[in-house]
Amino acid sequence: MPVKIVICMGSSCFARGNEQNLKLIEQFMKDYRLDAEVELSGSCCEGNCSDGPNIIIDGKQYRRMERGALIDILNHTFNIT
Ligand code: FES
Repeated sequence: MPVKIVICMGSSCFARGNEQNLKLIEQFMKDYRLDAEVELSGSCCEGNCSDGPNIIIDGKQYRRMERGALIDILNHTFNIT
């Protein structure tokens, strides 16, 4: 089963950092050849704009996602040490 990553691309989350976070996720997938293991999609708004940028991984919503925390979560999710 692929890991489902939904990145909120609503204007608030996009401006708060998901533009960069999307690039980071795409680069991460490329670096670790995760294309087959990830189902990446975007959403318009997750209803938590003030806590954004928001990213949902396998149904769990992560709020205020900044670069370092996102890398930690991706490493953990894909068992990369
Ligand atoms: S724009 Fe992302 S939660 Fe609203």
